[in-house]
Amino acid sequence: MTSHSASAGSGRFPAGRAAFPHRDLTGIGHLQRHEILYLLDQAEQWVALNRQRSKHTDLLAGLTIINAFFENSTRTLLSFEIAGKRLGADVVNMHAATSSVKKGETLIDTAITLNAMRADAIVIRHGSSGATGLIADKVDCPVLNAGDGSHEHPTQGLLDALTLRHALAERGEGAEDFTGLKIVICGDILHSRVARSNILCLTAMGANVRVCAPPALMPAGVEAMGVEVFHRFDDALDGAEVVMMLRLQSERMSGQFVPSAREYRHLYGLTAKRLAIAAPGALVMHPGPMNRGVEIDSEVADLAGRSLITRQVEMGVAIRMACLDILTREARGVEGWTA
Ligand code: NCD
Repeated sequence: MTSHSASAGSGRFPAGRAAFPHRDLTGIGHLQRHEILYLLDQAEQWVALNRQRSKHTDLLAGLTIINAFFENSTRTLLSFEIAGKRLGADVVNMHAATSSVKKGETLIDTAITLNAMRADAIVIRHGSSGATGLIADKVDCPVLNAGDGSHEHPTQGLLDALTLRHALAERGEGAEDFTGLKIVICGDILHSRVARSNILCLTAMGANVRVCAPPALMPAGVEAMGVEVFHRFDDALDGAEVVMMLRLQSERMSGQFVPSAREYRHLYGLTAKRLAIAAPGALVMHPGPMNRGVEIDSEVADLAGRSLITRQVEMGVAIRMACLDILTREARGVEGWTA
């Protein structure tokens, strides 16, 4: 991640330091706690704007944003597109299925091509872990990671944190961070970039994160990320205040990792009965796409007042607006940072 100097910010930032010293957003792993909080705080203005009838600003007018998606996506692509458009930028989507990638062009050549078109920000989703970092090294504009293989999905981690912050505040339990909050992340931890970005984001914000998966779907050494490891879902759920469910990433599995979907649901599916083991009123999250009846039952996914799944989608647009705003400030000649 390239660092840039900028004039000192205010608010939570130490005097004399740039408020946001990164050119790219390739992963939560590059961010410090105060930088995460800054991104969340900055997103609040966009949550408010997005709830109004007129959702348009011309903050990014004249800038071109390219969304280069080499992997399928529904909500992330749409969310980045809406975010760019609401900020007034010209937004272009490149789908790998119809691009020269199918003709054998390398990732680097594609990056050089996008760069030559003078994009002001490039949003990338790619099946290879580290692909976004590789592209960031080759282009002259900010690069935002919209999911790279099993590595990271930073805007998902941030939008999940923003969603939780709102939900806790509405219950009168709001605090600046998540110190002591018990969160379970259950599912295909091994292949999930969402799990990785969430572990990094939530632990940085002080949460007690438990991860739960069958042994074959748990990354070796994950404890080093500061999480508690569980293989029995009922044990992991005991006292949990937030339960985040993940899909089996079948497209990243070579061979059989779970005996059957039925068996998986039996051991790791979030049913209403299981949710009752968690703390009273525990909140339910899922990044989507959901496989209803496998990792999560419909009666839980649609549980009014407890399921945050549609709220996650809402917060996704605001977070992406915040990231696009902050990372294009240099291109817009914004002097100084408003923290
Ligand atoms: C996730 C992804 O693509 O990593 N989806 C998303 O961006 N909301 C999760 C998934 O595919 O299971």
